[in-house]
Amino acid sequence: MKTTAFISSLLIFILLHFSYAQDREIHDLRSGWKFHKGAVENAHLQAFDDSDWPTIEIPHDWAIAGPFIVDGNGSTGKLPWKGEGWYRKKLDIPQEYQKKSIYLLCDGIMAFPKVYINGQLAGQWDYGYNSFYLDISDLIDYQGNNILAIHADTRKHDSRWYPGGGIFRKIRLIAVNPLHVDIWGTYITTAIIKPHYADVKIATTINNAAQKADPVIVKQMIFSGKIKILEKADTVQIKAASKKTVETLLTLPNPRRWDIDDPHLYELKTELYQNGKQTDTYVSTFGVRMMRFTADNGFYLNDRRVQFKGVNLHHDHGPLGAAFNTRAMERQLEIMKSMGCNAIRTSHNVAAPEMIELCDRMGILFFNEIFDKYDDKADITAETDFEEFAQRNVRNFVLRDRNHPSIFIWSVGNEISDVQWDLDRGHYKLQTMVNYVRKYDPTRPVTLVCDQTESAEKRHFDYYDVHAWNYNRRYHIARQMEPNKSVIVSESASTVSTRGFYEFPLPEKKTDFTKALQVSSYDLNAPRWAEIADDDFMWQQDEPYLSGEFVWTGFDYLGEPTPYDNWSLSQMGMDEDEASRSSYFGIVDLVGIPKDRYYLYKSHWKPQETTVHILPHWNWPERVAENVPVFVYTNGDNAELFLNGKSLGKRYKNPKSSKSVERFRLMWNDVIYQPGELKAVAYKDSKKIGERIIKTAGDPYRLELSADRKTISADGRDLSYILVEAYDKDGNFCPLADQKLKIKLQGDGEIAGVGNGNPQSLNLFQSNSVNLFYGKAMIIVRSVNKAGQLQLEVTAGDLQKDKVTIQMQ
Ligand code: GAL
Repeated sequence: MKTTAFISSLLIFILLHFSYAQDREIHDLRSGWKFHKGAVENAHLQAFDDSDWPTIEIPHDWAIAGPFIVDGNGSTGKLPWKGEGWYRKKLDIPQEYQKKSIYLLCDGIMAFPKVYINGQLAGQWDYGYNSFYLDISDLIDYQGNNILAIHADTRKHDSRWYPGGGIFRKIRLIAVNPLHVDIWGTYITTAIIKPHYADVKIATTINNAAQKADPVIVKQMIFSGKIKILEKADTVQIKAASKKTVETLLTLPNPRRWDIDDPHLYELKTELYQNGKQTDTYVSTFGVRMMRFTADNGFYLNDRRVQFKGVNLHHDHGPLGAAFNTRAMERQLEIMKSMGCNAIRTSHNVAAPEMIELCDRMGILFFNEIFDKYDDKADITAETDFEEFAQRNVRNFVLRDRNHPSIFIWSVGNEISDVQWDLDRGHYKLQTMVNYVRKYDPTRPVTLVCDQTESAEKRHFDYYDVHAWNYNRRYHIARQMEPNKSVIVSESASTVSTRGFYEFPLPEKKTDFTKALQVSSYDLNAPRWAEIADDDFMWQQDEPYLSGEFVWTGFDYLGEPTPYDNWSLSQMGMDEDEASRSSYFGIVDLVGIPKDRYYLYKSHWKPQETTVHILPHWNWPERVAENVPVFVYTNGDNAELFLNGKSLGKRYKNPKSSKSVERFRLMWNDVIYQPGELKAVAYKDSKKIGERIIKTAGDPYRLELSADRKTISADGRDLSYILVEAYDKDGNFCPLADQKLKIKLQGDGEIAGVGNGNPQSLNLFQSNSVNLFYGKAMIIVRSVNKAGQLQLEVTAGDLQKDKVTIQMQ
């Protein structure tokens, strides 16, 4: 069996290699990079000696290894991302490439990258999050050595979160014959979709960099899985040294729609031929789906109303930093989906292309946003020519992404005050952005994400298609003035909490924060401008024109530690240096461990699955005979609570209440604490749907490791997330355990990062030790480029240790 698999993969490899050799070759420039942090003279020159620089792989984030800057700015993560750095790599360019066009395609370099080939500036870019490409054909020495050098510089980059530093997404070298499909050269739209057919319009931009204008055959083939469904070939004439966009219309029979429950994808293979020889193959993925916003009833996908149960995600992967990793992102999306999330907004920048591919594949709707503010947070400086900058950046953003079926809207920016108030040519800028988006993709709506209610009087919404407003029903004036446009709550909640931490008494106001530097997990706290989760659920129930919400945020992220950022601490008369280094906003913590709120969202967003969750934990030795309120999050409509077998009564959700918490959670506010067993039994329509028991735990006795995946790919990138938890002798989870863990890894593989969801922790992310935080911690291991296995052993003082084995194949 193994031998057959090996032979078939060998055959596939040979076939691919053979077919690529005759047309397009794509090299992921992943390894063999030399890196230096800081300024260096002449590092762009070919002859520069980089032999004593460390060798690294990209994607790379120069700041995530720390160390943390204790008195640094918590809002950007207290990590050393500011500065400049150099990357150098030897390129192996075969001589026969002399006849080809050679491109470098970069997906994100933070920030202001300057790219040199053999000492000459090949090009530069000015927005760190965006993809860009350069034609480097003329700079290559086809007989000799070639050195690619890249300078990244974050000194002029500003941010409201942790941006990371360096080449944080992939770079590919693409070698094509002179007659080839342009980079991002296909645009596939399906304006006509009927039950039994869909018209697929393909606009292919062909680049004829050759000096001959012989006829070109453009062959288009549509595949569903491995089955070829359609094929069409046209002959066209393209002038020498020019580009031409060729349109093809194919009628797809019985189209299988892309939908959130069945994210079916089609593949388009475009082949070019000239004088009987194939010159290029270009593969694009697309989906067939109908999307529309209605004025009064929200958003429709394939003629069915779909409410956005969305979350905002920043681009970092917690302990792994900003360096993009496909598995880390896939896991983030899996966790979000598991609580019923069906949509993502990428706040507030161009996403890694792989992230949108994942959403296509996983059936997650995608709110695609390009900028936060129009200032140095978007790398727009005083020298920037806005019009030129906008055109170039919007072009790349839309051309790169416009075939993705998951994308349902383009956002030209988040909370841009000048634009909302039409100051400093605000509406002109807005119109410029919107027009460029529409130029490249007239098929999807465009929006601007707003936050300043009264600015609606300036009617900025006249320029775009859908209202998108952050928090607190700020949309009301805009909606009254323009009731023909639907509303997206682009940021909702902004509830804050620390996993595992609870404070008494319950807060009277959402902004009651103590000096604890942690936020109580009763899910009743939010900053001044925001609200709790239940409020948004209620407003959406009461106002059906709301097409849904995007919670701020799905995951905790590095930076923005409201309410314990430097400024807020100074307002509270506290030491600014105590500012936290990561957020409290997440539904799950920085390493993906669910907070209580996860279950609140799941109970509402995924009512078809049983949720019975009790909070807080039941270890309160210092509160015996005192009040400890108990909440239950359930998809049921009522529940009965028992303490040590004695009923504390039933509580019912009140769907008509004007107090949102009464609609969505069950609360026993007057429970008097006694150690023992707390049990909740939940009912729906008078039927028992489930129960949950939590017990007062004894002293921590043993550790337990659970890996999310025990077999991973031996590709040097794949990850396994290993959760560590402490249990007592009787198997009860210990919610207060805070022991220091020692990690021993044997075999192949490496520790990619550690963490525990404590926004205050300045423990290095790359370390072989981490503390349990409220009973839990996470160890992330990465495979190496070699099949084998690794064994991870974790100890903590005299607690019983645990081991896990991860296979890499
Ligand atoms: C919003 C902003 C987000 C984040 C959030 C925190 O106003 O768009 O980026 O700062 O507030 O609540």
